[in-house]
Amino acid sequence: MVEYAPMPPLPLQVEPDAAALMRAAAALTTREARRSVEERGVFHLAVSGGRTPSTLFFLLARLKEEELPWSRTHVYWADERRVPPDHPESNYRLFRELFLKERPLPDAQVHPFPTGDASLYEACLPERLDLALLGLGEDGHTASLFPGSPALTAAGRTAVSRSPQGVKDRATLSVPYLNASRAVVFLVSGAAKADILREVLAGSEPPERVPAKLIRPTEGRLLYLADREAAAKLRGRPGRITG
Ligand code: 6PG
Repeated sequence: MVEYAPMPPLPLQVEPDAAALMRAAAALTTREARRSVEERGVFHLAVSGGRTPSTLFFLLARLKEEELPWSRTHVYWADERRVPPDHPESNYRLFRELFLKERPLPDAQVHPFPTGDASLYEACLPERLDLALLGLGEDGHTASLFPGSPALTAAGRTAVSRSPQGVKDRATLSVPYLNASRAVVFLVSGAAKADILREVLAGSEPPERVPAKLIRPTEGRLLYLADREAAAKLRGRPGRITG
């Protein structure tokens, strides 16, 4: 029995399966990169950790310069576990293994979160990100913005935070800085995310309990890009199912 919820007021694009979702995410990243470089000569991209983006990193690494202007692209992290860059839990390490080994970028274009003082990151962040690719935790967190965390009200561009599980010490981009992005795309895959995606798009929990609800770009574009399993509990025309 599939539960139903009102059609989400937020832009939701539903792909048939995880593979199609990642192809769509790679195509969207390419479009945003080309648009940013055409308009401003540079593309500032923030990526997340976790399991969801792994296939995306693999796909992006195989795009040629003619497809995605890597020579004009700067990569940042939405958050980082405060561990050494070679630690198995490092988000930078995940990206290095899945992307940089296949598609090296100059160090001047790759900006890992310093494992020390999160505020050191502020100096290397651009005024605005062109695209932030975010994940969605089953508890409604995104980046390392966890329910009830003091980081949710950080006024600067970054904040330190503590995760309730796994590597506890985290550093994260802040809500206001993420909301200054020109585009924010949540990548949501799998049946385990169906409840939280329905809550984020159509539920009534307060945002401090579901931090992903705090991410509403003030002038930028927002999209929830999900696969059919993750969108299973949303009613009606479940977004634009493509592919
Ligand atoms: C991290 C991520 C985190 C992640 C969500 C979803 O450092 O772990 O930035 O916010 O996006 O926890 O993780 P999955 O993609 O593994 O479900």
